[in-house]
Amino acid sequence: MTIALEGVGLTHPGGFQALRQLTLQISSGERVAVIGPSGAGKTTLLQLLGTGLMPSAGQLHLLGDDPARLQARGLKRLRTRIGLIHQSPPLPPRQRVITAVLAGRLGSWSLSRALVSLCYPLDIPGARAMLEPLDLDDKLFVRCDQLSGGQLQRVGIARVLYQRADLLLADEPVSAMDPVLADHTLALLNRIAADRGVTLVASLHAVDLALRHFQRIIGLRDGNVLFDRPSAQVSDDDLSALYANQSLAEQGHEVVRPARPAGLGAGTGILRTAPRCL
Ligand SMILES: Nc1ncnc2c1ncn2[C@@H]1O[C@H](COP(=O)(O)OP(=O)(O)OP(=O)(O)O)[C@@H](O)[C@H]1O
Ligand SMILES: [Mg+2]
Repeated sequence: MTIALEGVGLTHPGGFQALRQLTLQISSGERVAVIGPSGAGKTTLLQLLGTGLMPSAGQLHLLGDDPARLQARGLKRLRTRIGLIHQSPPLPPRQRVITAVLAGRLGSWSLSRALVSLCYPLDIPGARAMLEPLDLDDKLFVRCDQLSGGQLQRVGIARVLYQRADLLLADEPVSAMDPVLADHTLALLNRIAADRGVTLVASLHAVDLALRHFQRIIGLRDGNVLFDRPSAQVSDDDLSALYANQSLAEQGHEVVRPARPAGLGAGTGILRTAPRCL
């Protein structure tokens, strides 16, 4: 089991309880999308799985370790096995793309190798190989502050792929990309995860992309799991319940009723038409 949560709660500083009594398991090699309305707790869950946050209650096991019980050295070792793709990668603006990608392995390199790599990129072919399938190898020596939002997201993805983590986490990894690139990038992430046999957990707002690319969907709302099913079994009712917005409806706003895209009928899992963003 790669991930096991048993009654996990997480309360942010300030007292907001973002995750409530979550119990779920994700096996090695599974590819899972987490969907849900804004504020549901998706980013909080991914930060927890990335060990950036610790549970306030319950038990969390990641790759065989309980991060809350690890000493600093053990936690550092665990973190080298987990790659978190951020929605807005926190890359130094003046850093070049090549350096940002190679920094994916800083945690597992010796201090001297890491320092040298920061000044003189040591593995140009390795970085290029990560950027090429993301259609970004022409930006290898460009500074990060000269990239668009979607290009920056792809640098963040290349960096985590270069890291060769055992657990890939992605928080809205394609939110700044056009639909074609977003589709291609999610297909690539899933293919690489499958080829490497690693676990992939991604949060997504685009329900059609989640249903199209991931085997299993977890619907998160108000810090609770509302449903957890194979993507082919997620129904229109599941989606309506997940995204129901009482307060907008009470204010008299017309509220869209989310549904499976045509051609992705529940129970078939077959895409017959071009993907459509909900
Ligand atoms: N650092 C923090 N301190 C206090 N509360 C926080 C913090 N981070 C998030 N929260 C709160 O926790 C809840 C869940 O936030 P989270 O960012 O996990 O939601 P999300 O599902 O990722 O939303 P979105 O789809 O908008 O990205 C929100 O109500 C948010 O206000
Ligand atoms: Mg979020």
